[in-house]
Amino acid sequence: MSSEGKSLQGRVAIVTGASRGIGRAIAESLAQRGADLALVARNEEALNETRALAEQSGVRALTLPLDVSDADAVKGAVEQVTAELGGLDILVNNAGLTRDGLLMRMSEEDWTQVLDVDLKAVFYFCRAAARPLRKSAHGRIINVSSIVGIIGNAGQANYASAKAGLFGLTRSLAKELGGKGTTVNAVAPGFIETDMTASLPQEIRDNSLKSIPVQRLGVPRDIAEVVGFLCEDGAAYVTGTVLPVDGGMSLGSVG
Ligand SMILES: NC(=O)c1ccc[n+]([C@@H]2O[C@H](COP(=O)([O-])OP(=O)(O)OC[C@H]3O[C@@H](n4cnc5c(N)ncnc54)[C@H](O)[C@@H]3O)[C@@H](O)[C@H]2O)c1
Repeated sequence: MSSEGKSLQGRVAIVTGASRGIGRAIAESLAQRGADLALVARNEEALNETRALAEQSGVRALTLPLDVSDADAVKGAVEQVTAELGGLDILVNNAGLTRDGLLMRMSEEDWTQVLDVDLKAVFYFCRAAARPLRKSAHGRIINVSSIVGIIGNAGQANYASAKAGLFGLTRSLAKELGGKGTTVNAVAPGFIETDMTASLPQEIRDNSLKSIPVQRLGVPRDIAEVVGFLCEDGAAYVTGTVLPVDGGMSLGSVG
């Protein structure tokens, strides 16, 4: 399929955490809009599956197997993308993980690992990508946060702190990078059905559903379509926002 005439045709996008779940759906959404892709995660085999899906839209796609919390690997990856795909227009920081536990039992390792992957790694990618993004006439950074960063969640002090930290990073970079037209936004998904939420007990799923006005759990495509829009020219005047994509879950109790 050709990418002629599509909204992101000729743009180059990095998507982290692209091996499955929301990241894979974002990769497909950007590919369907015509963007060439650099796909980042640790599992090369799974990245190749995402690449095959993206290539069905007629775009070029690179796979970059790496750990996003490795600053040198991140720097090298961004250099490789600009060299091989001819620049960089879009950075989607989606990779993330959870290590849940109540505060009194939370190990320092679980705290540090979540902060390293969910917050510090985003700093690494933004820092490495800032220069090439400023050369683009349509620079975009989208940080995938969580409504847990807004409303908090018992058992996720580490994750909520990292995801809330992304709001400050997003707003600060919106101010730093806006002069060259680069926009920086965050999306805050609610409860989305992926591997991350697959092992949660039925009781938590049922309770979550009761607090969602649109009365369904989210699917990766719900997030991917919003990210796709934020990357398009029509969203050029939206920056520094945190957009909940949660079926209304963060509004509080229903009924
Ligand atoms: N699923 C939800 O309900 C939900 C809700 C709010 C926010 N989010 C956020 O959305 C993003 C995607 O989550 P998902 O539900 O698709 O989860 P997932 O576990 O299915 O996918 C996470 C992705 O991140 C990658 N990743 C994790 N650690 C990495 C590392 N150190 N280096 C490189 N890649 C790494 C994984 O390989 C995978 O590709 C995450 O940032 C998550 O916090 C998810």
